[in-house]
Amino acid sequence: MADKGGFPHFMIKEIFEQPEGLRKTIAPRVSLEDGVVRLDTVHISAEELRALRRINIVASGTSRHAGMAGQYMIQELVNLPVDVDYASEFEYRNPLIGPGEITIVITQSGETADTTAAQREAKAKGSRTIAISNVVDSTIAREADGVLYTHAGPEISIASTKAFTAQMAVLFLFALYLGQVRGKLGKEQRKQYIRELLDLPGKVETILQSAADCEQMAAKFYKNDDFLYMGRAAHYPIAMDGALKLKETSYIHAEGYPTGESKHGPIAMIDENLPVVIIATCDRNDPGSVLRYEKNISNIRGFKQQGARVIAIGTAGDEQLRGLADHTIFVPEAPELLLPILEIVPLQLFAYYVAVRRGLDVDRPRNLVKSVTLE
Ligand code: BG6
Repeated sequence: MADKGGFPHFMIKEIFEQPEGLRKTIAPRVSLEDGVVRLDTVHISAEELRALRRINIVASGTSRHAGMAGQYMIQELVNLPVDVDYASEFEYRNPLIGPGEITIVITQSGETADTTAAQREAKAKGSRTIAISNVVDSTIAREADGVLYTHAGPEISIASTKAFTAQMAVLFLFALYLGQVRGKLGKEQRKQYIRELLDLPGKVETILQSAADCEQMAAKFYKNDDFLYMGRAAHYPIAMDGALKLKETSYIHAEGYPTGESKHGPIAMIDENLPVVIIATCDRNDPGSVLRYEKNISNIRGFKQQGARVIAIGTAGDEQLRGLADHTIFVPEAPELLLPILEIVPLQLFAYYVAVRRGLDVDRPRNLVKSVTLE
């Protein structure tokens, strides 16, 4: 696994390995016919999970963006309050956590110093900890009460891609598991969600077939030095990670923002020199998603009036969006809370092709390391 397998860089190889990583992460943990999610490595009893009052999520970089998406998944499916923290800020917040809570530490490497320190602080305050890691027996995995491994395979490129989508899949599985244990999600609901989870790898494969469109888009935008990425609700973490991918690989100033917040400042920057990347997908079965979609369309009209070039991530078949945005990359339909796993793929491809166009060392960006093991 640790060679490039015919790809020019590890990053593009790992982007294309996402269907396999999702398959290996999801399939062994679900049974479609009886609608059951099995997470045997959580090692926290059902009664403890039923008594749970709150969940904290702590991570760094791309892993924290997975945690942000997980916050929406768990709060929506289980009605449990979830806080998400930067691992590097956790100690300064004097986190008011204790027994009866779980702290989920998300880390691809399982060795990040900030995240290790945060995990130790949470344990010292009496919180149970669950590690989501891509490296078996890593430090953070070993020190956790329970471990949920992503099975994305070795991730060599410094910019995290396949581990990220696998982390979000694990967080969704954990939300289903909590809903199952706490009686919030009935068997039919779980079966429907399990079916949608099992369909994800195929949907990512469909998106990967549009890689050439992302490359053509990169050819039009790679000289730009500023980008504004936007998303609402569970899509905001994806805007954040899309922007981080561009920062990490191309050294371009790219900022992720909640779309609704753009009127409080950022739109002052928007003109023909500031491309806007907006996530404007829609789950037609989710009234909240439809409402947010209408707001996104209105935002895009405003950005266009300000002269911006707009790149949109939309739901397959959305001709209104195609007619409105300058460039649209489509993802297949999926439930609102699973769309983030699909939406990040075109943004990963876009960042990769921009970096290649800029002639940069895509897999080893300057100043960065794969795991920051020193504070
Ligand atoms: C950074 C990596 O150093 O650490 C990012 O470049 C990563 O890709 C972040 O998201 C956190 O690393 P980990 O291993 O704790 O997920």
